[in-house]
Amino acid sequence: MSSSFSIVAAIILVTICVLGNSKAQLSSTFYTTTCPNVTSVVRGVVEQAQQNDIRIGAKLIQVHFHDCFVNGCDGSIMLDNADGIESEKDAVPNQSTDGYDQLLLKYWFLRMEAQRGKFNWEEETVGQPNQSGTTAIPSPFENLEKITKKFSDVGLDSTDLVALSGAHTFGRARCLTFVHRLYNFSGTGNPDPTIDTTYLETLRQICPNGGNGGTLADLDQSTRDEFDSNYFTNLQNKRGLLQTDQELFSTSGDTVAIVNRFANSQSDFFDSFGQSMINMGNIRPLTGSDGEIRSDCKRVN
Ligand code: HEM
Ligand SMILES: *[C@@H]1O[C@H](CO)[C@@H](O)[C@H](O)[C@H]1NC(C)=O
Ligand SMILES: *[C@@H]1O[C@H](CO)[C@@H](O)[C@H](O)[C@H]1NC(C)=O
Ligand SMILES: *[C@@H]1O[C@H](CO)[C@@H](O)[C@H](O)[C@H]1NC(C)=O
Ligand SMILES: *[C@@H]1O[C@H](CO)[C@@H](O)[C@H](O)[C@H]1NC(C)=O
Repeated sequence: MSSSFSIVAAIILVTICVLGNSKAQLSSTFYTTTCPNVTSVVRGVVEQAQQNDIRIGAKLIQVHFHDCFVNGCDGSIMLDNADGIESEKDAVPNQSTDGYDQLLLKYWFLRMEAQRGKFNWEEETVGQPNQSGTTAIPSPFENLEKITKKFSDVGLDSTDLVALSGAHTFGRARCLTFVHRLYNFSGTGNPDPTIDTTYLETLRQICPNGGNGGTLADLDQSTRDEFDSNYFTNLQNKRGLLQTDQELFSTSGDTVAIVNRFANSQSDFFDSFGQSMINMGNIRPLTGSDGEIRSDCKRVN
C-alpha cells in the first residue's frame, strides 16, 4: 500500500499546489515560502483518513475530477443548496456512493489544512456552482466518441483520457453503472461481447438482472486497492468494468495504442497520469479576483 499511497498523496498535493492560488499565475512552487511543509501536512491528513477508509484516495480523486469538469477546478462542488444556489452535489450525475458531505469536507480540509496549521494561506479562490453544467461530466453510458468530445471540450486529449481513466485502477462502482452490459446490451438480448466470459459470470453474481443496483464492484478486479497499471492489462483481457473503460481498448482508434503502452510500462503510466492530472487541474482556473475566499466552504459569502 505504501507506494500506491505516496502516489495518491503526491497527486492531491499537486492538485492543491495548482489550485490554491489567486494572486499569481498557477505554479507548483507557489507555497514554497507561505506553506513550506504543505507536503507533509497533506500526507498526514490523507494517511489518517485512510486508516478508516481504504477508498479515501479514490474518492478524493473522483471528487476532484467532477469539480474540474464543471467550470474548472474551482471548488464549486462544495456548495450546499441555498437561495439562488443549486448545488452540484444534488445534480445528475449523482455518482456519490456514500457520505458525500463527509467526503467533501475532507476535500476541503485538504485544501485548508495548511491554514489550520497556522500558515498564512489566505488565498483561496472558489467559484459559483453550476448544476446544469454537470452534464459536462462524462457518463458511463456514453460511447467513446462522446467521452472523447467531453474531454476535448475542456482541452484534454486522448492521452489525457486514457491516463486519467487509469484512476479506475482503484475504487468501486455501483451495479447500476454497468449492469446494462451484462444481460441485454443495447437491446441485443445478449451481454456486451467485449466482456470476458469468466469475468461476465463473476459480475452477474454480484449484479443480478434487475436487482442490487447499489451493490459495489471493484473497478480493478485484479488489485482493487492498488494504484498500478493493472487497469490497462485488464482492458487487454476484456476485464474492464465500465463500458467507457473497455471501449478505450475495444473500439478501434488512437486510444488502443495508448492502453497498450501503459499496460507495458507502469512508469509510462505514472508519468502520464501525473502530467494529465496537472492538465485537468488547469481547466479554467480562477485567478486574481475571479473567485472569492469563502468564510464557510459550503456557502458563498
Ligand atoms: C472517462 C470518463 C469517466 C467515466 C464515464 C467515469 C465513470 C465512473 C463511474 C460510473 C464510477 C462509479 C461511480 C458510482 O458507482 O458511484 C466511477 C468511479 C470512480 N472514478 Fe470515474 N469516470 C471517468 C473518469 C474518471 C477520471 C478522469 C477520474 C480521475 C482522474 C476518475 C476517478 C474515479 C475513481 C477514483 C472512482 C472510484 C471512486 C470510489 O471508489 O468511490 N474517473 N467513475
Ligand atoms: C511543519 O514544519 C515545521 C518545521 O519543520 C514543523 O515544526 C511542523 O511540525 C510542521 N507541521 C506539520 C503539520 O507537519
Ligand atoms: C445523491 O446521492 C446521495 C447519496 O447517496 C443522496 O443522499 C442524495 O439524495 C442523492 N441526490 C439525488 C438528487 O439523487
Ligand atoms: C454552466 O455550465 C455550462 C456548461 O459547461 C456553461 O455553458 C454555462 O455557461 C455555465 N454557467 C455558468 C453560470 O457558469
Ligand atoms: C432487450 O432489450 C430490447 C430493447 O429494449 C427488448 O425489446 C428485448 O425484449 C430485450 N430482450 C430481452 C431478452 O430481455
